[in-house]
Amino acid sequence: MRFVIGRRCASTTASVMKAWILESHGTQLQLREMPIPVLTKPDQVLIKVKVFTYIVMAVIPAFKQGCHAEYAITEASCCSHFQQAASFPYVACTAWTALVTVARMNPKSKPAERVLIHGGSGGLGTMAIQMLKAWGTEKVVATCSQDSFELVKSLGAIPVDYRAINATDQLINLAPFEVVLDCVNSELAKWSDKVNKVVDVAKTKFSLY
Ligand SMILES: NC(=O)c1ccc[n+]([C@@H]2O[C@H](COP(=O)([O-])OP(=O)(O)OC[C@H]3O[C@@H](n4cnc5c(N)ncnc54)[C@H](OP(=O)(O)O)[C@@H]3O)[C@@H](O)[C@H]2O)c1
Repeated sequence: MRFVIGRRCASTTASVMKAWILESHGTQLQLREMPIPVLTKPDQVLIKVKVFTYIVMAVIPAFKQGCHAEYAITEASCCSHFQQAASFPYVACTAWTALVTVARMNPKSKPAERVLIHGGSGGLGTMAIQMLKAWGTEKVVATCSQDSFELVKSLGAIPVDYRAINATDQLINLAPFEVVLDCVNSELAKWSDKVNKVVDVAKTKFSLY
């Protein structure tokens, strides 16, 4: 989301904005005129919503209401500067969520030594490889096409061609893995899930499907 960030005190004269609202569960969204929200806590920021994009400048926490409007309130800690937003696109949020929130990896304490990524040459896979290597993960194995081998290697991962006849053997030889990130939902990814018990491939698996 892209916002212009501003501050508005409780004493400011109220004005109105357009907002999409739900009157009750199960009803249709309605476009209404509403008062512009007022700051009530010192760590709050009033943001003017300009456009929704995959570059994240500010986030309204999921449990808060009122984000489908011309103005919304969030916490200062949920906002970033232009430079930060440009360097941390939405794809990075997804990779971070997969590795940190779901797989419970702690970037500060080298959380896993061996990670397998299915779809390592895509936007998500390349972001995940870079994060893992920056955190010090020793072995990152990534499935991709032959065409993407150089890209994946340049990021520090070991590429495995998902079209290779012996792809499963290669993964078994490279196993075990503590974490598997599935970005493609391929047959090979499903296979690596099934063979966990045989080759101890993964303790944690995050799939986008
Ligand atoms: N990007 C995001 O921010 C984001 C957020 C939420 C969800 N997602 C979902 O996550 C998935 C991946 O997103 P993405 O942005 O990484 O997509 P992407 O940039 O299009 O990359 C997909 C990659 O998958 C590879 N691939 C295709 N078939 C494969 C297979 N059988 N085995 C292994 N790799 C294979 C392709 O690599 P080769 O060219 O090497 O074959 C391609 O680079 C999508 O379903 C997307 O909807 C993405």
